[in-house]
Amino acid sequence: MTKIRIGVIGAGLIGRKHLRKLAEHGDYELAGIADVNAEQVAAEQPGARVFADYRRLLDEARPEAVIIASPNQLHAENGIACARAGIHILIEKPVTDTLETAAGLIAEVRKAGIRSLVGHHRRHHRQVKALKALLGEGRIGDVVGVSAIWATHKPADYFKAAPWRSQAGGGPILINLIHEIDFLRFAVGEIVAVEAIAANRQRGFAVEDTAAALLEFENGALGTFFLSDCAVTPWTMEQGLGEAPEFPFSGQSSYRLMGRRGAIEFPSLDQWTQEGGAQDWNRPIQAQANHAASIDPYVAQLDHFRDVVRGVTPSLQPVEDGARSLLVTLAIAEAATARRRIDLRERYAALGQGEQATT
Ligand SMILES: NC(=O)c1ccc[n+]([C@@H]2O[C@H](COP(=O)([O-])OP(=O)(O)OC[C@H]3O[C@@H](n4cnc5c(N)ncnc54)[C@H](O)[C@@H]3O)[C@@H](O)[C@H]2O)c1
Repeated sequence: MTKIRIGVIGAGLIGRKHLRKLAEHGDYELAGIADVNAEQVAAEQPGARVFADYRRLLDEARPEAVIIASPNQLHAENGIACARAGIHILIEKPVTDTLETAAGLIAEVRKAGIRSLVGHHRRHHRQVKALKALLGEGRIGDVVGVSAIWATHKPADYFKAAPWRSQAGGGPILINLIHEIDFLRFAVGEIVAVEAIAANRQRGFAVEDTAAALLEFENGALGTFFLSDCAVTPWTMEQGLGEAPEFPFSGQSSYRLMGRRGAIEFPSLDQWTQEGGAQDWNRPIQAQANHAASIDPYVAQLDHFRDVVRGVTPSLQPVEDGARSLLVTLAIAEAATARRRIDLRERYAALGQGEQATT
């Protein structure tokens, strides 16, 4: 089968990772790269066509598909240009920087009929697929609730290197929680209301360093989420899964999912149930191990995108769905500031009306 000619917009931290994975992938051929630092990128990527202006990548190299790994504020513009040129997109998370720009992108993607995949790479882990399968089989019965933690200590250099990270919008809610929210929406179900509190007492920056959120799911489950980037713990999904060498493996579970017939920890997939499916607090409870192999989620994401581009499989996360993860995360930030419960149903509907109005 012919290889997919692919372009990459933005060869920064994640763009370079995608380029490394593409170079080892047999189903893709690099059509070119666009980055404003074209000279530096050309020196790093010998043999590749490198353009300073992404529009020239689209016009001259004519890729069939593009990975958009530019800064958040450019995602919508880049994605709309690809849609208008009939080019399929793998667009990094967050899908865009605001709900307004997301609605604009969704409209253009639909109008052009291109295929889209949002780069929430966690969805491609085998452990995540196994969790969905275990929940789907009813191993723990209907999910009653989830208790989740993402807590780690970012070093001082992280803030020195990029001062925007200590200002509003640069905190763990918008940078880190969006991955967890996307995972919860994917594994447990749609989130329909949120409440939150946030604090900046540990570091004293303008932005939050710690937050706690309450989540209400469409299926009736409730959730609590504790988030901090100034606490030393083994409980982040990165450490639990060992998905990247820069976040050393802890193997610890940071999620506890609780159901009418049992409970399951994630990512370990340890399952807790009573004999014969009993539901009785006087009966002993036993653990059962489940195993799912660790794989590279970025490679699995490229495998899936290949199938999406070829029309073999529907996208696991089109731009419409990525916009919903953004909507929930923005609402948590807003709830923490406003100190009130926010019902999301009307907001989802507004995002949907925007799509319908333009199709
Ligand atoms: N899925 C993941 O695991 C993951 C991890 C990190 C970042 N991200 C996302 O990827 C995106 C990029 O993040 P990053 O950490 O790689 O940022 P980065 O700053 O390291 O890289 C961005 C790159 O885009 C280039 N760029 C800037 N303006 C451009 C323009 N007009 N045209 C072309 N290129 C331009 C910059 O020169 C830079 O090389 C963000 O949306 C981020 O949220 C995803």
